Amino acid sequence: MALPTQLLFFLPLLLQHPTRAETCSDCFTQSRAAYYPNSDKTGTERKIQTPASGSFGATLNDGDVLASSSLYRNGVGCGACYQVRCTDAKYCSNDGVMIIITDAGVSGNIEFILSQHAFARMGQNADLGASLLSLGAVGIEYRRVSCSYPSKNITFKIDQSSNHPSYFAFQIWDQQGNKDVTAVQLCETENLTCKLLERSHGAVRAVVSPPSGPLSVRILQSGGDDRDETWVVPPNNIPQNWTSGAIYDSGIQV
Ligand SMILES: *[C@@H]1O[C@H](CO)[C@@H](O)[C@H](O)[C@H]1NC(C)=O
Ligand SMILES: *[C@@H]1O[C@H](CO)[C@@H](O)[C@H](O)[C@H]1NC(C)=O
Ligand SMILES: *[C@@H]1O[C@H](CO)[C@@H](O)[C@H](O)[C@H]1NC(C)=O
Repeated sequence: MALPTQLLFFLPLLLQHPTRAETCSDCFTQSRAAYYPNSDKTGTERKIQTPASGSFGATLNDGDVLASSSLYRNGVGCGACYQVRCTDAKYCSNDGVMIIITDAGVSGNIEFILSQHAFARMGQNADLGASLLSLGAVGIEYRRVSCSYPSKNITFKIDQSSNHPSYFAFQIWDQQGNKDVTAVQLCETENLTCKLLERSHGAVRAVVSPPSGPLSVRILQSGGDDRDETWVVPPNNIPQNWTSGAIYDSGIQV
């Protein structure tokens, strides 16, 4: 029996409309990558303005970091983890490297810029890694993976731009998994009045005239494998006498 024409029209459309890339946890997306030519072996500190006050890129993940405007997503993607592997079987290992997004840089028409360290580690061994470096730019594929910080809690890094008590700016560091932080509230702990924090730049969230007293942070996490939204309320408060540059333990990991 012939299928109704209407249905025949529909079928190819459905087939061409697979689940969105971000819901397809096993799928890789193709792209090209270069590396920061004057990044040192362990990171990108000197070259790029990282969202975390300058030193995030160099100390994080042994310097295996990456800049990409599309994955940085105006700061939402900062701190997210990706598996990146190059695609030339002659040089490239199957596992590639696990990298962390720390910046939004672009280089000409190349969307991905890795630290030199991460770029070379896509090779099957040190020699082939060196050969990759001499190529300068290579085809890659990437997919989002879960970040893993088995011996760390989520921490609150008070941004250098903060000025106690009138201007509060901070970042959330070391969150495990593959969910995005999509909203953050700052609550005083006496009457539980909360303020929604705007992103000021990159992953930094800020508020003028923050509540006084110790501060409780509420984090809305979205996406990930279950596509759920969850409010996470860490047990530790940011102390009343918070200072610019300080790092406070949230007392929780997810
Ligand atoms: C809580 O509410 C009371 C009564 O309105 C007020 O006096 C107090 O200052 C508030 N506390 C904080 C930390 O805002
Ligand atoms: C902040 O207050 C706590 C006690 O609440 C104290 O132990 C700590 O030394 C103070 N920190 C600063 C930088 O003043
Ligand atoms: C994480 O938080 C828990 C609960 O507050 C605490 O016992 C533990 O020491 C913290 N871990 C780290 C690595 O700071």
